[in-house]
Amino acid sequence: MAYFFLSMLRITSAEFVISAAKQAQFPKLPMPEVAFAGRSNVGKSSLLNSLVARKGLAKTSSTPGKTQQINFFRINDRYHFVDLPGYGYAKVSKTEREAWVRLIESYLSDRSQLKLVAALSDIRHEPTALDRDLFQWLDAIGRPFIIVLTKYDKVSPAQAQARYDEVMELTSVYSNRVGIIPYSSEIRHNREALVGVIGKALEGRLA
Ligand code: GTP
Ligand code: MG
Repeated sequence: MAYFFLSMLRITSAEFVISAAKQAQFPKLPMPEVAFAGRSNVGKSSLLNSLVARKGLAKTSSTPGKTQQINFFRINDRYHFVDLPGYGYAKVSKTEREAWVRLIESYLSDRSQLKLVAALSDIRHEPTALDRDLFQWLDAIGRPFIIVLTKYDKVSPAQAQARYDEVMELTSVYSNRVGIIPYSSEIRHNREALVGVIGKALEGRLA
């Protein structure tokens, strides 16, 4: 147990690097990365902020579609956390939506230093078709991913357990799924556990 804490990632600095609208703008430095993916409004930017304990670092909003580009943040001067735009956001043109999807997919499939994807799904609802497409697609391209069930503070412990069991069953076939974790950015539920998994992934020590 002592070893676990000694080896655990401690986030000591976090700074914004760039908001990228195309692949050419992605940072060139080969720092190990973790990306946060999921549909619009699921809580990606809030999750990133809660991990680094900086409320306004990644911009959040109750209006879906807040994050429109790929935002890179430098952590401890040696890693990147990557906040992706939400997919499935209806209030933009079809052309714009398709461009986002292409950008996100090219990032997720081509980025060589990407060690882990946090794939978010709202714990209050069963995973949507878009959520399930994301899990399936990440597995198919061989990206390790952890399913984060967001907004844990909005449900009872019994409801959370039921959702966890359901998602566990639904995604049991995916060999690249490294875990499922209920999470709350609001009350920081399971923050230490998630930071633990992320730290392992960044150090290339995922089992
Ligand atoms: P896009 O950038 O539009 O794709 O959204 P996003 O996935 O980054 O979501 P964002 O973090 O902006 O959060 C959307 C809304 O959900 C905001 O109103 C947040 O305050 C709220 N929210 C996010 N996480 C939690 C949580 O753990 N608990 C509660 N209660 N609300 C949350
Ligand atoms: Mg966002």
